[in-house]
This record gives sequence, C-alpha cells and structure tokens, in this order.
Amino acid sequence: MTLEPTRLPVSHPAGQYDVLVGADLLPNLAELAHLRGPIALITDSHVGPLHAHRLGEVACTVTIPAGEQNKTLATVQTIYDQLLAAGIDRQATVVALGGGVVGDVAGFVAATYLRGVDFVQCPTSLLAMVDASVGGKTGVDLPQGKNLVGAFKQPTAVLADITTLHTLPPEEFAAGMAEVVKHGLINNPELFGRLESGEWRFSNQSPIANLQSLVAAAIAVKRDVVQEDPFEQGRRATLNLGHTFGHAIEQVSGYRIRHGEGVALGLVAAAHLSARLEYGDPALQGRIEAVLRAQGLPTRIPAAYKPAPIYAAMFTDKKKAAGRLRFILLRDVGDVFIVGDVAEKDVLATLTAVQSQENSSLQ
Ligand SMILES: NC(=O)c1ccc[n+]([C@@H]2O[C@H](COP(=O)([O-])OP(=O)(O)OC[C@H]3O[C@@H](n4cnc5c(N)ncnc54)[C@H](O)[C@@H]3O)[C@@H](O)[C@H]2O)c1
Ligand SMILES: [Zn+2]
Repeated sequence: MTLEPTRLPVSHPAGQYDVLVGADLLPNLAELAHLRGPIALITDSHVGPLHAHRLGEVACTVTIPAGEQNKTLATVQTIYDQLLAAGIDRQATVVALGGGVVGDVAGFVAATYLRGVDFVQCPTSLLAMVDASVGGKTGVDLPQGKNLVGAFKQPTAVLADITTLHTLPPEEFAAGMAEVVKHGLINNPELFGRLESGEWRFSNQSPIANLQSLVAAAIAVKRDVVQEDPFEQGRRATLNLGHTFGHAIEQVSGYRIRHGEGVALGLVAAAHLSARLEYGDPALQGRIEAVLRAQGLPTRIPAAYKPAPIYAAMFTDKKKAAGRLRFILLRDVGDVFIVGDVAEKDVLATLTAVQSQENSSLQ
C-alpha cells in the first residue's frame, strides 16, 4: 500500500508553495512540483550517487563536494560556470537534492543566477527536511563566519522524500532529531509527547508512516513560525531555542561537536536556565534529557569545554541583538519566550550545572 504524501501549504510575502512529505516522491518530481522547463540539478558527492538516478530526466547535474567547508562563494562560482556551459537559461528550475548545505548553496544560486530562476528543494537529511528547506533563507559561509552572505529565496515546491533517509548516516539522523525535539518544545506538545513516549517509533503504524507524520509535524512548526514572521523580525527568533548555548559550544569545540549535538546540549541548558530563573518547571530538564538520550544525543557538555570560554563565544554569535545576548526560555513544552537580560552569573551557573563530571570527550 502506498501512503499518500502529506501536503503542507506555506504562504510567504510573494505567494505560496507546498511542502510534500512522503515516500518515493523523487521519481515523480516534475509532476509533483509542476515543472515544465528543464531541470538543473544541484547535489553533493554523497547524495548524488545514491539518489540522483531516481529523478527523471534532467538537463544538467552539478555535483559539489559534500561538507560544510564547501558552502562557499567559490562553490557558487563553479556552479554558475557549469550552468552557463550547459546552456541553462531562465526557463530552467534549479533543483537542490541533498542536505542543508546543498539547499543553502543551490538556493543562493537560484536567487542570483541570471537574476533569479525557479527553485525546488528536495531535502535528503532530516535536518534539511525539518529546518533548512522551509523559510526561504539561503546563503554561504565566509572565512569570517557562517551564513554571512545570502538571500531570501522562496522555493516553488519542497519535496521531502523520506525514503532518502534510509541512507542517511545514523549520527546525521540524530542531529536532525535535535531540531525535531526543538520544534516539539517550541510549539507542539503532542509531537514532544510522541517522542517522550516513544510512540512515534513503536505505534502500530508502519515505520515509514510514523516517520512521515513525525517529519510533517516538525515541518509544520517551522512553517507556522516563519509564516508569521517571514523576515525574522520577531517570533522567528524562538526557532533559535537552544542555539545561543549550542552555537557557542560548537564553536568552542572547534566544531568537533556537530550542530545537532550542540542544539541538544543547548536545549538542556535552556531548560536548566528557565528553571533557575523560576520561569519553568524544574522537571522539564530531565524530560528533555530523556528524549535526547533516546535519540543517541548528548546531554552533558564535555568537561574539556569550560563555562567561561563558552560564555565568551556567545558574544561572537551574529544573532545577538545589538551586542546583548538573547535567550529563548521555556515555561513549559510548547510555551517559549525571549529574554534579553540574563545575568552572566546565571549563564555561567547553568553551563557549570550542565557540564559533564567525566573526562570523556562526549557523553
Ligand atoms: N536555510 C536555513 O534556514 C537553514 C536552517 C538550518 C540549517 N541550515 C544549514 O544547513 C546545513 C546543515 O544541514 P545538514 O545537516 O543537512 O548538513 P549537510 O548538507 O552537510 O548533510 C550532512 C551530511 O549528510 C550527507 N547526506 C545528506 N543526505 C543524505 C542521504 N539521504 N544519504 C546519505 N548521506 C546524506 C551529506 O552529504 C553530508 O555529508 C548548515 O550549513 C546550516 O547552516 C540552513
Ligand atoms: Zn539548528
């Protein structure tokens, strides 16, 4: 029995598009995304060999080397060169097939090549499905920092083919789950409850149906927030739950701690700080830790990364407002809010409390 895809309409300032979540969507890309012109496929060296053959005919395929270190203007330049050499014109649609790196780079290319061509996202990592492919942000890193150059470019369709997740390495799946947990905490107690009870894995639906509904629920949280705040002026900041701590921990670790792991640690720290400042239920931290552990995610900052350097690293995050740190805190599951005036001693005490007592590199 084939399962119907879940359709999530997304409105943005210039129109609307659908996110489709389902199994085996890639073979029907042209039909599902209503494409008429030629397809310029952009993928990476891991995903292309595994999944590009499942798409129908494409006019050209550009394969970039996998990895965040290739999310650069130099990669964008090589893509422009290959699109021009293949005669790709404004009738074409740029299709991104890959994780968040491919989506961000291909989206930036689609926003700028010939002053803009149509763009379709086919995210293949859990993180790209539930986070990067919705919201219209695209861009590349500079030597000075991540995501410093970019554009808002809305896709005309997003196809989240969950069949592709079968080839995703387990640690990448876990990293995406950190953002799913985050989305449950921001605005979907039912989603968080499913993770807490393990119901999404063990219910009597098929595993693929479980995954489809989990991914769709997580996408819907992001969709609802970005629809309300398309240019990140207010509520969209709540999507950074766990990220003020998480980015700083990633940075201090020299990026040995991957983004999803940093977010997991940041969620624990945000719950701890919320309880310390008497906004939130003290039991919430333990509940979040149990959910993260069940996904194979860390819940204690490795002892090697001390509170003071992590605190200092928070001030280099470009998302801080006018030199002040902002934290997203939790009153309860599904009830988050922004605070801009947390005392240094409370942040340091939180980092100390969430620190591992062991000397292992990651627990
Ligand atoms: N634009 C946004 O709003 C937004 C939001 C969140 C994150 N991001 C960006 O997304 C990036 C992170 O995304 P990511 O975690 O997907 O990283 P990624 O694109 O580097 O993918 C992670 C790894 O998994 C591989 N991979 C992806 N799908 C696969 C599959 N189905 N099978 C086998 N291997 C697969 C990739 O080749 C890569 O090695 C960062 O650059 C981040 O800045 C953007
Ligand atoms: Zn994130």
